[in-house]
Amino acid sequence: MIASFREILEERRSHGAAAGAFTCYDATTAIGVVHAAEARGEPAILLVSESSFTGRDGRLLLPALHAVADAAMVPVCVQLDHVTELELIRAALATGLVGAVMVDGSRLPLADNVGFVRAARKLAEPCGAHVEAELGHIEGGEDVARAAEAGGLTDPDEAASLARDAAPGCLAVSIGNVHGTYASEPRLDWERLERIRAAVTIPLSLHGASGLSDPDVERAVASGIAKVNVNTEIRARTFEELDRRLPELAPGYRVLELDAAVVEAVAEVVAAKLELLSGRAGGAG
Ligand code: 13P
Repeated sequence: MIASFREILEERRSHGAAAGAFTCYDATTAIGVVHAAEARGEPAILLVSESSFTGRDGRLLLPALHAVADAAMVPVCVQLDHVTELELIRAALATGLVGAVMVDGSRLPLADNVGFVRAARKLAEPCGAHVEAELGHIEGGEDVARAAEAGGLTDPDEAASLARDAAPGCLAVSIGNVHGTYASEPRLDWERLERIRAAVTIPLSLHGASGLSDPDVERAVASGIAKVNVNTEIRARTFEELDRRLPELAPGYRVLELDAAVVEAVAEVVAAKLELLSGRAGGAG
């Protein structure tokens, strides 16, 4: 069932857990995410990358993901991820199919980032949608993994200003996390996360969860992260599964079985992440 971004984050936070948000380039992946979420009786967020949305088939993909979300037996929200242009946000909201937009003003000076988030909120709120902002810059590849070093880290004082002046529904932090592949062993800045959390009351999100150790993800949740984004690990597992199963399934063109195998593989990755996000690991390490 379709649920609001805010409801999902609040419900997860009330359980000391974090919401899992998973990039879906196709309906098969979304079905895998929903399988895992339904098996656990937990909500999920389906992320649509900006390039999917603006690409040739965005007009078809978004309704497909919305339909999967709607048919799910658990609360699901569709979120357009990392948009840098207001016009795209307007276009996405006009479809009525997105419950949230990630408004990426992380390359802008603080005042412009604040202005961008405020303008996006003004568009989103009449549609019942919510916005997520980013402060500091999360480096790395969104749709194509490449080794990346951490970008500009989130300044806790700036986070307080942005939360006060733009009041996004969620704030993505840069604390050593990157999208795609980590160029070197990830070292998250826990002390910075603690200071950001102390500075704001809005929910915080951690992008770039692929490649983080399980204890790091659990510690992030225990430290107050309310939403965790995962993409690359799902893509990697999809390719592994295709490699493994194609020789057996290509004769006879057994698409149904191939599709089921990918759904199951995605669901396994998602279920493992949802377990880490459940908050059951307890206190920070
Ligand atoms: P990863 O690809 O590193 O999992 O990051 C996903 C993400 O943060 C999407 O916004």
